[in-house]
Formats: sequence, C-alpha cells, structure tokens
Amino acid sequence: MFDVSRGTKSVDPSIELVLAPMEGLTDFFMRDILTSLSPYDWCVSEFLRVTDHLYPASVFHKHCPEINTQGKTSAGTPVHLQLLGSDPSAMADNAAKAVELGAPAIDINFGCPARTVNKSGGGAALLNNAELIHQIVASVRRSVPKHIAVSAKIRLGLESSEELLVNAEAIHEASASWLTIHARTKSQGYRPPVDWRSIGQVVQRFPDWKIIANGDISSAASLRQCQLESGCSSFMIGRAAVSQPDLVASLKSAIDTRMSWPEVGLAQLQLIQSMGDKERGIVGRYKQWLSMTTSVYPEAHERFQRLKRANHIAEILADPI
Ligand SMILES: Cc1cc2nc3c(=O)[nH]c(=O)nc-3n(C[C@H](O)[C@H](O)[C@H](O)COP(=O)(O)O)c2cc1C
Repeated sequence: MFDVSRGTKSVDPSIELVLAPMEGLTDFFMRDILTSLSPYDWCVSEFLRVTDHLYPASVFHKHCPEINTQGKTSAGTPVHLQLLGSDPSAMADNAAKAVELGAPAIDINFGCPARTVNKSGGGAALLNNAELIHQIVASVRRSVPKHIAVSAKIRLGLESSEELLVNAEAIHEASASWLTIHARTKSQGYRPPVDWRSIGQVVQRFPDWKIIANGDISSAASLRQCQLESGCSSFMIGRAAVSQPDLVASLKSAIDTRMSWPEVGLAQLQLIQSMGDKERGIVGRYKQWLSMTTSVYPEAHERFQRLKRANHIAEILADPI
C-alpha cells in the first residue's frame, strides 16, 4: 500500500479512514475544523448516553448540530451519531428519533471504559454480555430504515480478547452494517500495546463483513502494519488525528505532506473563535488541543509552556504563534 522508503506513497483508494469519536474532544467545533483539514470518509459524534427515556429533539440538536445540515460537517463529511446505553428499547427509540431528525447513520458504543458510564451498565461493561449486545443492536437495527447504517464499536474484551469472537458474532447476527474494533481490552484503558492481530481473527471469521481497525494508528508505517496484522481495509484514527490534524490528508495524498506549525497554530485559534463566549471552557479546550500537538510540533511544546497557566483568551491571543 505504502512505499514509505522512497518518501512517496501509493495509496489504495479503497481504503477508508474515519475520525474516531472522542468525548470532550471531538465535539461539533473540533469535528468542523478537523474534517476541513483532512478528507475523512466519515466521522462519529461523541457518545450520547441513553438511559430509559426518549430525549427531546433539542438534546439531539445540541449533541450533534450537524443533523441540521444534512448530517454533514461544513466540509461535507458525514457525521454518524453515536449512542451509548443498555436498554434495547430506549436505544431503539432514541436511534429512530435521531434518524428522523437527520442523523445519516447510528453507531453504538460498547467500548467506553469510564466508571461513571459502566456502573449504569453501558459501554465496555457490556462486553461480557453478548446476548444483551445482540438485543441492543438488533433493536436499533429494526427501529431505523434499512438504508441507514447501524454499526457498533467494541474493544477486544474486558480483560482479554476471549470474548471477542462471541461479541462480534452477536453483532453480526443482529445485522450491523459494520463493526469497529479498538484493539485494546477495557482494563487496558488507553495504554499500549494494541493487538491488531486479534482483529484479524474477526476478519477471517466474517470475510464479507466490514471490520474497521482502531488503535494507535499515527503514521503511514503504523497504518501499513495495522493493515498487515488485521487484514482490514478500513481504519479509524483518534488521538493522532488531533495531534496531527492533516494526518489523514497526508495518508490520502501521493506525497508526504505536513501542515506547518503556524498553520496548525492558526487552526487552534479558529477553535477559540468558533466556540463563542464561555471563556473558561474555551481556554481549557484550547490548551487541551495545544498540548496534544506538542508530540508532533516542538513549537507547540514551547507555546504550551508559555500558556499552560493562562486563564483568559486575551493571554492566548497576545502570545504570537
Ligand atoms: C478523550 C477520549 C474520548 C473518547 N470518547 C469516545 C467516545 O465518545 N466514543 C467511543 O466510541 N470511543 C471514544 N474514545 C475511544 C476512541 O474513539 C478510540 O477508540 C481510541 O482513542 C483509540 O484510538 P486511537 O489510538 O487512534 O486514539 C475516546 C478516546 C479518548 C482518548
């Protein structure tokens, strides 16, 4: 796929690259900026937590404002709406409402390891309950029209990849359009190593089903390695897409490119501009993104050292990029 040794890449155009959902990070504003800097095939909203009731339209509009614009970011990238919950009928009702309001596809989160979410039985806590996973996916699938994709996102398992095939089978039997697998267990959190080979077992078991590989893809070399080990041709990228906002543009381009630091710095200021007037939250979000770019851009590291104690937008704007 890639010939990185010569600095050029022959990219297989059938490869799909998806921007991962990241709660507290890839909100509406970040999705808008990131999808304008890289041509993702689609992106996924942060999770909307479903308990036992149907949300009013206002909740969906706030959670995923793109439903007002044909389910797309301003760059035209589709935004799939992600739901998290353990009540099959409430999940189905909310999925149907999201689609009625304009969501182009529904993704179901079975991967979130957060304690607050897991203690109410949602996210990765369900990975030892394939029967309930099946019921949730089947119920959501039945509640939305056939042309609307319903997908699921899982981890390898709770403590090991022992449950992986049984969970994948439950989701496949529920007629999910595809499955995204984050190649870590719940107990691993976000720590290395990722295990792309285990994803390959699912690919072999269901050769005609789309499996999206996720976890620690941050370069052409890691993408190539993930493809070799998993056998996938669709990939989801999370943190590296924030650290290097044009990573996917570069992966999809025939030649190696990288945005300059001033370009990235200005994109980060655009986040401040677009977010409106809640100063405290905006400053926090700005510093979060700035700190994530320090691993790629030395200039971001220097700027972060200067601004890490900033409390006001004016301090950020006064510091030259
Ligand atoms: C801050 C943060 C928030 C996340 N929120 C979600 C979420 O809302 N839904 C979800 O399915 N996964 C979520 N994830 C997991 C990512 O989608 C992805 O699976 C994980 O980061 C591994 O991919 P990466 O190594 O490319 O970052 C989150 C990850 C992070 C770091």
